[in-house]
Amino acid sequence: MGILHRSSVIKRPIDSMRVILTTFVGVFLGFLIGISFPLLSLTKLGVPPGLVLKVDQMYNTDMKSGGSSQTPENVAFDRRSGSGELNGSSEIWVPSNPRGAERLAPGIVAADSDFYLHRLWGDPNEDLPRKPNYLVTFTVGYNQRDNIDKAVKKFSENFTILLFHYDGRTTEWDDFEWSKRAIHVSARKQSKWWYAKRFLHPDIVAPYDYIFVWDEDLGVENFDAEEYIKLVRKHGLEISQPGLEPVKGLAWQMTKKQDGLEVHKHTVEKAGWCTGPNMPPCAAFVEIMAPVFSRTAWRCVWYMIQNDLIHGWGLDFAVRKCVEPAHEKIGVVDAQWIVHQGLPSLGSQGETEVGKAPWQGVRERCKKEWTMFLSRLANAEKAYFKSLENHHSNISVPL
Ligand SMILES: *[C@@H]1O[C@H](CO)[C@@H](O)[C@H](O)[C@H]1NC(C)=O
Ligand SMILES: *[C@@H]1O[C@H](CO)[C@@H](O)[C@H](O)[C@H]1NC(C)=O
Ligand SMILES: *[C@@H]1O[C@H](CO)[C@@H](O)[C@H](O)[C@H]1NC(C)=O
Repeated sequence: MGILHRSSVIKRPIDSMRVILTTFVGVFLGFLIGISFPLLSLTKLGVPPGLVLKVDQMYNTDMKSGGSSQTPENVAFDRRSGSGELNGSSEIWVPSNPRGAERLAPGIVAADSDFYLHRLWGDPNEDLPRKPNYLVTFTVGYNQRDNIDKAVKKFSENFTILLFHYDGRTTEWDDFEWSKRAIHVSARKQSKWWYAKRFLHPDIVAPYDYIFVWDEDLGVENFDAEEYIKLVRKHGLEISQPGLEPVKGLAWQMTKKQDGLEVHKHTVEKAGWCTGPNMPPCAAFVEIMAPVFSRTAWRCVWYMIQNDLIHGWGLDFAVRKCVEPAHEKIGVVDAQWIVHQGLPSLGSQGETEVGKAPWQGVRERCKKEWTMFLSRLANAEKAYFKSLENHHSNISVPL
């Protein structure tokens, strides 16, 4: 495409002739190669040669008229299944396949995905020189770009970087060199947990050992992601966060950085705050601003995120239900610590109601969600145990 555009600005006739000739030869060669390869391979797979030619023409027209992602191969297979030529397909039934895909041979089922960027040409097997095994997501507005730039630089090339944009500004980020290898997801005025529920399905983030679901206002001067992961592995933490630099007004003892430790899993809180030494917020607890999940823990936590409760309040007290024993597998990494800067961010993106600042409306919504989440959780567990009781009593009823 780029070549065609450039040729139109060339003025000298001889150059134009040369370009036209080159283009013609190129297209012709491409056509020959294009028809011979699919002919060889597709006909072996039982596609009639006439259909291959037709598909190849469609493909050429398609590319000239602006391009699309359809390749001759998948068009051909669409056609085949449509005309019922795929003999035997109706006889496949594999109950262990993902729900809805039982009619497919297991060998063709791609149940998981990833965020790896592919190129549009060449051998697919050679697209990815490296497959990052960690994922970091930030929920960002453009105003916080310098802070995010600093943060991203603390994550090595072993991380896939995924930005959720709540202010609709994405292209401006390309001023940063790393932006071109990052994934940008844009949806206006949504919260971190809204994005997480929609774009971090466990099957989509399956290749990543650890998933960082972070806010945008974290100071990372004393943090290194690779070192962090080494400690998390060493201490067997399935859910963790970096210690927070102690500042005035810090909400919880548990997430406060403790000097001279690599990791801590327990703390002492004000009298009456914890129902037991292994219970939040004394243990089995991290905050929702900078959590890090192992693949297994995330597969559980994702299911607990409610679609309508977008602020995530209450999750911090509930994630312990996803790991066992929670007080050993949830902890705070003191040796790699961060600063919660508390900058105005998404909170200032609320709607102004009569007589209230936007952040007040957001804050009230957060609290409301917290109570809704806690009561849903309590009701769900009550209903579950009740159903167990019924089940047991039904069984014990003599016939
Ligand atoms: C599918 O192929 C088998 C032989 O391999 C044949 O017996 C059967 O009739 C074919 N079924 C259809 C629907 O064409
Ligand atoms: C990335 O991961 C590889 C394999 O685990 C490791 O050898 C390498 O040191 C990591 N890169 C950095 C910058 O730590
Ligand atoms: C047990 O019995 C109750 C009432 O008879 C019924 O509502 C419930 O569905 C039964 N539970 C199971 C697991 O069969």
